[in-house]
Amino acid sequence: MKLICADGHLELANSLGKLLNAEVITPEHRLFPDGEHYYRLDGDFSNEDVVLLSHLHQPNEKAIGLLFLAGHLRDVGARSVGLVAPYLAYMRQDIRFKEGECITSRYFAGLISNAFNYLVTIDPHLHRYHSLDEIYRIPNRALHATNLIGEYIKKMIPNALIIGPDAESAQWAEGVAAAAQCEFLVFEKTRKGDRDVSVAMLDLSCYADAQPVLVDDIISTGRTLVETAEGLVEAGLRPAICIGVHPVLAEGAEITLNNPAIANWLSCNTIPHASNAIDVSYLLAPAIAAMMAEIIL
Ligand code: R5P
Repeated sequence: MKLICADGHLELANSLGKLLNAEVITPEHRLFPDGEHYYRLDGDFSNEDVVLLSHLHQPNEKAIGLLFLAGHLRDVGARSVGLVAPYLAYMRQDIRFKEGECITSRYFAGLISNAFNYLVTIDPHLHRYHSLDEIYRIPNRALHATNLIGEYIKKMIPNALIIGPDAESAQWAEGVAAAAQCEFLVFEKTRKGDRDVSVAMLDLSCYADAQPVLVDDIISTGRTLVETAEGLVEAGLRPAICIGVHPVLAEGAEITLNNPAIANWLSCNTIPHASNAIDVSYLLAPAIAAMMAEIIL
């Protein structure tokens, strides 16, 4: 098996490479003076099973590169070309909120489905879609980081109370709490704009001694976590520890998260960032091996 590190996230590529016993290859890449891509891959790929690893954060440039690399691998005779995207982009526009809007999730899925034999990802933003099969036409696995996060909490954070800031996060909050063997609560969030959210508090008087741990799939502007953490402090709880699966981090997010209501925040290494504290390679490796066995049979 060959694993192509297409996104510069060499730390994850190397740990996955070790677990899968795969050779890790970094493509040669540069831009021509007019901005077009140049790619070159060293090695013989004929009859090889190739995994392209790319986290698809800031996806526009990366996605076109992936399509070129997948096209090349097919041309040179690879037996299978899979996409491992620990963070899968273009999942949030899943409906026309306003007339005339493009449902980008669907069209992006079409492009990936044409280029790859399979897709493995972690906690894709499934909101109105119930599964990736609704838009992806290739075999796929949507893995959950909940156990990894729960085990981290169990080991590192005593007396944790897991909190999901909105109804969508209920799936993570419940799974994380089960793995961490502690209680969980789910709040209700209203989003008024990209950077404007409010979170309704519950009566928390019986949790004064607990360490609140906020869990969410995506940390983008950071507003969801800050609003929730501030509400918790107002309700008499201590500053929260926040854990996001995907540190997407829109511009200014780190400044926003530097807030007295947040004791600490950390993430999984689905996207490379200094906040990465939870390694997803142990989740990805067996799923990739299983997927390969499934498509090759
Ligand atoms: C929302 O629906 C997601 O689960 C996250 O809560 C959201 O993407 C976080 O965004 P932000 O950090 O901008 O509040």
